[in-house]
Amino acid sequence: MAITTCVFDAYGTLFDVASAARQAAEELGHKALAECWAKLANDWRLKQLQYTWLRAITGDHTDFWQVTGEGLDWAMQANGLSDPDLRERLLALYWELQAYPEVPSMLAALKNMGMTTAILSNGSPDMLDGAVKSAGIGDVLHDVLSVEDVGIFKPAAVVYDLVGKRFDCAKSEVLFVSSNGWDAAAATGYGFTTAWVNRGAEPMDRLPWKPAHVLSDLATIPDLAGAI
Ligand code: LAC
Repeated sequence: MAITTCVFDAYGTLFDVASAARQAAEELGHKALAECWAKLANDWRLKQLQYTWLRAITGDHTDFWQVTGEGLDWAMQANGLSDPDLRERLLALYWELQAYPEVPSMLAALKNMGMTTAILSNGSPDMLDGAVKSAGIGDVLHDVLSVEDVGIFKPAAVVYDLVGKRFDCAKSEVLFVSSNGWDAAAATGYGFTTAWVNRGAEPMDRLPWKPAHVLSDLATIPDLAGAI
């Protein structure tokens, strides 16, 4: 069945999660961060994701903003940073992360093709609203779907169910796009056609499912969606 609906992960896929630490490192007074920002960003992201998986497994759900703060606390301590103002600044920048440069034109192209476009994210609705507004992409998205509607993080199948429920479409009509290898893999297992955006040329996750397509950025998504 042809693709009618293109659904994107948010953090790391449309929005550059390293941009908060990178931007803060360039600001005056953040010398200690300037020396470790890339490692801090990586530690922060890994802990944030680990906490989502652990909370999903134990059933002890909280929202993504809380695990984002908790992941940052771990990462700051691991990197010898203890400045509360820096913590606040990093979280403020996370609220309005930079979108990757090709995102607005790619979404506009999909919309012009008549595709339905949406975000499906672990992010809480207010966080996603902040990021979508600061990137200026609200008018090229039909909707923004959050796991808060089901109270469990990805890759629980009930999260992917939100797409069919919202758009009344079959799994086979959905192209699901994520930069997180585990998210793209799990969405393949769920039944979506998937694209893994592997900007960092990372190895493929060793999971029972594989993404159908592997891309280095988002620019070719409209061509791919039109060709399936
Ligand atoms: C999200 C995380 C997984 O946006 O990046 O759902």
